[in-house]
Amino acid sequence: MSIKENINLQELPSHIAIIMDGNGRWAQEQGEDRLFGHLHGVESVRNIVEGAAELGIKYLTLYAFSTENWDRPEYEVTGLMELLVETIKKEVPTLNKNNIKLHVVGATDMLPQNARQELTEAINETDSNTGLQLIMALSYSSRWEILNAVKNIALDAKAGKLNPDSISPELFQQYLATANFPDPELMIRTSGEYRISNFLLYQLAYAELYFTDTRWPDFRKENLYEAIVNYQKRQRRFGKTGEQIDQNKTSTTL
Ligand code: IPE
Ligand code: IPE
Ligand code: MG
Repeated sequence: MSIKENINLQELPSHIAIIMDGNGRWAQEQGEDRLFGHLHGVESVRNIVEGAAELGIKYLTLYAFSTENWDRPEYEVTGLMELLVETIKKEVPTLNKNNIKLHVVGATDMLPQNARQELTEAINETDSNTGLQLIMALSYSSRWEILNAVKNIALDAKAGKLNPDSISPELFQQYLATANFPDPELMIRTSGEYRISNFLLYQLAYAELYFTDTRWPDFRKENLYEAIVNYQKRQRRFGKTGEQIDQNKTSTTL
């Protein structure tokens, strides 16, 4: 029996976020260059996007390149940017065929001009798709995002467009790069690292975290199913007691 059959389709997380980590080590472990790992990582992206769409997941955020990743050796950054441009170009027809809409969050002004152009085209060409919302975090860091939000709130307050007393969690959320998306219920990190690395610090407040030793280039649909099954076994309490959650469940199902 495939682990897929153990997934309760009525209780899927609506938003899954993934830190796709371990490409470099995966390659180096086989005596290959780190870029070889990134190249194979693209295959995992395809497989996981397809798997999430098939299941009916509504939002999938993939951390593809962090603000801090700009500090890697120049040849790796250049190689990653080339791979990005090539991949977007190639994947647009598949995204359209599967009704997937592409979004990007991050400081995209730091990306090379051709990458920005390919991204804009891909976003426009997939704009009317209503299925999986695929959010690529590119040149993204959570502190960058939060500081931007704070700056824009301050500017709006200064311009008289906003009363500081009206700043609520809902309003703050509207200033984030992820304003249009709900918070992820499940965050997966591959490659055996147990940290957040500046990813969605605000949005992950109550996410269930799932860590696996599998390196990203080896991560496939079955691994995604396993993470979802694991997520579905957990009790999400949001500060309440387990009894309160159980009671609520019985009263809503009766
Ligand atoms: C994740 O894999 C991809 C990016 C950060 C761009 P890494 O490149 O971080 O691989 P490791 O963690 O060094 O193995
Ligand atoms: C996080 O991975 C960023 C991405 C997966 C894009 P890193 O490999 O950059 O994170 P650290 O440096 O190990 O924390
Ligand atoms: Mg890494």
